[in-house]
Amino acid sequence: MSVTPSDVKATLSFSDNSPSIDFPIYKGTIGPDVVDIRALYNKTGKFTYDPGFMSTASCNSSITYIDGDKGELLYRGYPIEQLAVKCDFLETCYLLLNGELPNATQRTDFTSLVTNHTMVHEQMGSFFQGFRRDAHPMAVLVGTVGALSAFYHDSLDITDSHHRDVSAIRLIAKLPTLVAMTHKYTLGQPFVYPRNDLSYTANFMRMMFAVPAEEYKVNDVMVRALDRIFILHADHEQNASTSTVRLSGSSGANPFACIAAGIACLWGPAHGGANEAALNMLYGIQKQGGVEKIGEFIKDVKEKDSGVKLMGFGHRVYKNYDPRAKLMRETCHEVLNELCLHDDPLFKLAMAQEKISLEDDYFVKRKLYPNVDFYSGIVQRALGIPVSLFTGIFSLARTVGWIAQWNEMISDPEQKIGRPRQLFIGAQRRDVPSIDQRK
Ligand code: ACO
Repeated sequence: MSVTPSDVKATLSFSDNSPSIDFPIYKGTIGPDVVDIRALYNKTGKFTYDPGFMSTASCNSSITYIDGDKGELLYRGYPIEQLAVKCDFLETCYLLLNGELPNATQRTDFTSLVTNHTMVHEQMGSFFQGFRRDAHPMAVLVGTVGALSAFYHDSLDITDSHHRDVSAIRLIAKLPTLVAMTHKYTLGQPFVYPRNDLSYTANFMRMMFAVPAEEYKVNDVMVRALDRIFILHADHEQNASTSTVRLSGSSGANPFACIAAGIACLWGPAHGGANEAALNMLYGIQKQGGVEKIGEFIKDVKEKDSGVKLMGFGHRVYKNYDPRAKLMRETCHEVLNELCLHDDPLFKLAMAQEKISLEDDYFVKRKLYPNVDFYSGIVQRALGIPVSLFTGIFSLARTVGWIAQWNEMISDPEQKIGRPRQLFIGAQRRDVPSIDQRK
């Protein structure tokens, strides 16, 4: 672990006069120091207790850094605001995977490598036939991405760095194809094969929206908007789905299976499913009467037992405006202008909702700000992406982050199988009663 030990040590003392223990403290390059408590159990027979990992660093990493109080997000040191305007998604992928931005030659080579892997095995088409047409796209993606491991036996040796590289490229290249196939399958339209003369994102849009009966014209503003969505969602340090990928990978599972596990975790409404939930929430308010009904909705949100949440608001790490939400709001303006939808009622509703919430004491006190999902649904809807596919788009974009984090974990000499412990509060040892003695 290439971290600097601090001169300061953490001392754990006990009120029953048991001897106190010192633990080393490490400094990262930025961010909070960590107390290394790995020896705690050996020395004391005690575990730490931290459900939800509120104070626990599960690994060391050099990929993505978030300062939640400042509202800062860095990929390999570069601010997301700069990457979103100066780079495209494949450059961002290269950066996340390799640590540095590509030069012109590396960029061309990487683009051509990914482009050459965009097709999926023809048999994948038959695999789709096993799903109901109305299956949720995330159910289809968990299945089809996991199934890739059945097709690529030649890249499953995780101890071989060449196998890992090939799997990484296959996943980044094939996810757009699988997401688009999922969409086409739902519609009952023929699958559209990838086209290697188009950019990564233009190709994806074509696979999503082209039909054999008509010529498909790529709209550059729309492609740029979707590419930006991909960049903004590419990685986000040790969030729930990334930790799921790392935990699955820690047992030695193959990368396709690990990414399928990440997709399953991302599906939940508290995580990647929030963009779908945010848009459905806006539709709901609009149906009730629109802007005038925001007050009533906010009242419900503030009611502790109502179970109603303002979706697209709040974040475990950001206690300030999520920088991705700002970029997404800008992108929303660009796309709606391009489509002459300046007066889009849902966008107006979202902006009114944001304004009212940011001035409300409940949200101010709890430092609840819009997160990336608050506006991304409106952009995706404008691009013609159905609501149920939003989290699939997120999976497509996050695959590179998952892979980079998985690769980092495998290459870490300190890597061990992830195995949390517990505070057991169930029954103590007891004997099994015979059936007639049971209550
Ligand atoms: N609406 C209303 N109240 C909220 C919201 C919200 N969206 N988010 C948090 N709160 C309240 C909680 O009820 C809690 O109030 P309390 O102190 O009175 O009990 C307080 O704010 C702290 O919230 P926690 O749930 O403890 O915060 P946590 O870090 O565990 O949760 C989470 C973060 C899951 C993102 C939460 O804010 C949430 O559910 N937001 C809505 C879903 C969402 O948008 N998720 C997307 C996250 S971004 C992503 O995954 C890409």
